[in-house]
Amino acid sequence: MESTAGTSLLERCKPWVIDTLRLMSHTTPMIRPIEPRDLANVRAELKTHWNSSEIRSLDRRHHADALPGFVAEVNGEFAGLVTLNMDAGGWQCEVITLSSRTLSPGIGAALLAAAEAHALAHGCGRIYLTTTNDNSRAIRFYQRQGWRIAALHKGVIDRARALFPHIPLGGLDGIQVRDEIEFEKLIGAAAWK
Ligand SMILES: CC(C)(COP(=O)(O)OP(=O)(O)OC[C@H]1O[C@@H](n2cnc3c(N)ncnc32)[C@H](O)[C@@H]1OP(=O)(O)O)[C@@H](O)C(=O)NCCC(=O)NCCS
Repeated sequence: MESTAGTSLLERCKPWVIDTLRLMSHTTPMIRPIEPRDLANVRAELKTHWNSSEIRSLDRRHHADALPGFVAEVNGEFAGLVTLNMDAGGWQCEVITLSSRTLSPGIGAALLAAAEAHALAHGCGRIYLTTTNDNSRAIRFYQRQGWRIAALHKGVIDRARALFPHIPLGGLDGIQVRDEIEFEKLIGAAAWK
């Protein structure tokens, strides 16, 4: 069928059909530990979502491109990243970054599950992370993955901004970025207490 604009209906629907077929294929992401060959992708991913490989969380600085973690691949393509930091003493592990390229659903969940398994295998009783107060999608996502809000670190971003004025005030959905929300999941024996 030809539209009035001269483009066939099939032509106009093609991108939508391709996207839908891609989503319907539900390709299971492959999750594997970060390897040295991933460095360029890791840095690009961190730059996309955090504008830097240097990540601040709870007043601590992390060089996320040097941390252990996991990569997701879909059809051999880099599709997501989780980076982790073991706290001193090794009883808890922090997720420093988690991001997905949403090539197919379930990448974030699969990476988070890999992080939890890693923490459990290293004897942790708790895994935790922080996200900024503007990140409504992440706040919803973590709770739907069974994580709980553990603390509100009110004003922590305001204080960081006073030291580093380049940290923007404007965040997602027009929300001012001011606080960090800490999420946690108790794992292993700690989960049964
Ligand atoms: C937050 C983030 C990591 C989530 O990753 P994601 O890949 O979109 O997450 P998933 O696809 O696993 O889950 C998203 C939804 O798909 C659903 N889903 C998971 N597996 C699925 C599957 N196999 N089939 C269909 N749906 C599925 C989940 O239940 C979830 O639904 P919900 O939004 O209704 O809860 C991602 O949005 C992101 O990269 N954001 C930018 C960076 C960021 O903000 N990171 C967090 C800050 S610390």
